Amino acid sequence: MTLLKMDGITKVFPGVRANDQVTFDLAPGEIHALVGENGAGKTTLMKILYGLYRPDSGTIRLRDQAVAIKNPRDAIARGIGMVHQHFMLVPPFSVLENIILGKESQTAGVLRLEEPAREITEIMNRNGLPVDLTARVEDLPVGLQQRVEILKVLYRGAEVLVFDEPTAVLTPQEVVELFKTFRMMRDQGKGLIFISHKLDEVLDIADRITVIRRGQVVKTLLRAEASKPLIAELMVGKPVFLHVDKPPAAPGAVILEVRGLRQRSPRGHLVLEDLSLEVRAGEIYGLAGVEGNGQSELVRAITEAVRLESGDVLLEEQSILAWDVRTRRDRGIGHIPEDRHRYGLLLPFSLAENLVLGRHHRSPFVRGSVVDFARMRAYARESIEKYDIRTPSELTPAHALSGGNQQKLIVAREMRFDPILLVASQPTRGVDVGATEFIYQQLVEARSRGKAVLLVSADLDEVLSLSDRIGVIFKGRIIREFRQEEATKEQVGLCMTGEKRSA
Ligand SMILES: Nc1ncnc2c1ncn2[C@@H]1O[C@H](COP(=O)(O)OP(=O)(O)OP(=O)(O)O)[C@@H](O)[C@H]1O
Ligand SMILES: [Mg+2]
Repeated sequence: MTLLKMDGITKVFPGVRANDQVTFDLAPGEIHALVGENGAGKTTLMKILYGLYRPDSGTIRLRDQAVAIKNPRDAIARGIGMVHQHFMLVPPFSVLENIILGKESQTAGVLRLEEPAREITEIMNRNGLPVDLTARVEDLPVGLQQRVEILKVLYRGAEVLVFDEPTAVLTPQEVVELFKTFRMMRDQGKGLIFISHKLDEVLDIADRITVIRRGQVVKTLLRAEASKPLIAELMVGKPVFLHVDKPPAAPGAVILEVRGLRQRSPRGHLVLEDLSLEVRAGEIYGLAGVEGNGQSELVRAITEAVRLESGDVLLEEQSILAWDVRTRRDRGIGHIPEDRHRYGLLLPFSLAENLVLGRHHRSPFVRGSVVDFARMRAYARESIEKYDIRTPSELTPAHALSGGNQQKLIVAREMRFDPILLVASQPTRGVDVGATEFIYQQLVEARSRGKAVLLVSADLDEVLSLSDRIGVIFKGRIIREFRQEEATKEQVGLCMTGEKRSA
């Protein structure tokens, strides 16, 4: 029996055939991975399944019954659950309230909580998803918020679960935990659809792998037939080489100096404690650490005006603490932000406008006092070409781009402004293998042209392969620095847990 069969699904958006006669099926007790380049059509297919988009043609069968899924409510009623990447939780509410929201049971107008709590605890135990039901969602780290999302979906009785890039926001340890949960759900006969750009993860967890390219299914492989180079080649249509070519570093003058930063969170915890580091021209400095150890606060202290308890941040020997965001950009600080929706893009605006964001008021995009639109569009077309942004045109609004293409747009903008200092937070989050390789080359090239790069990434392999020096951040301070030659994955990994001694 198949749990789900999608047959001949086609969906056209203005200028693109996002899904073209896609056929995809899922068995009970199966983890089926969906892979493909940025813009290949993975999310679109899942949004059709969840009732967010209507297909132009094609049929969906659930347990051999043809169904028309009208909206997400309808999808949930039919046993389809989706774990979103941008969580749909209510931050000030408790975990329990978030899980039962929309499915409350009332007796004579009184909200019943004991019974749901018992049932949810049982679901937690059966699926390896422990969370404190009384905690407020806003106090939980991302990995636990994701658990709440999964619990919410299971509490509604989902048999088909869709995970669209769930691991992009997780630490390596959290990925291990998530995969344990995946296996437990599989053993209960549920069907899981898993989207990821990390091919090691796909090979680790999937039973079958379907590759789509430019809206069409290229092939469905059994795990036993699959390998990393094969999947990459099927995705891209030609062989991909997964490596970074990096000439030796020639570091110059100190560009960024961070001196003794100390900062408290609104609740009074020390989030930065005497944090100091230097990044030189022609150097990539990688920050390694478990998320939540002060990385975001450090990045904010460099890119935005924030309140510090003490310490200083200097760009080319000048303190920047009094500068506002625009001044920082104008003086040569580029920033690839970790949350592209909140800080990176104006979603309703066109790709061309987003590409000049922050520089639109300057030459060459203004002539006299008038914005030169022709110039802006030509510049956008060059960027689209060079950074391989998959879009119908430069006038397409940013919200219509796929996740990975939005990320490429931000990388293109920040790189092309040619900053003196580039702060790159999770630069390849959600980006496909080919584009990741390209972004790596661009970062190395910027460094070769004498730029200073501060790389912040949850991906330790990324930090180790790109950085000339690596600083390990733990509880708001740099507890150790390594030169690239002396850094091993084991040692840096150990250090990230607060262990300072060398092995
Ligand atoms: N709402 C929309 N309006 C117009 N075009 C869209 C819309 N949603 C998606 N598209 C287009 O459909 C194509 C497929 O996008 P989709 O988001 O499904 O890709 P994806 O495989 O999920 O990519 P990624 O790995 O980057 O997330 C892209 O060309 C995208 O620009
Ligand atoms: Mg997507």
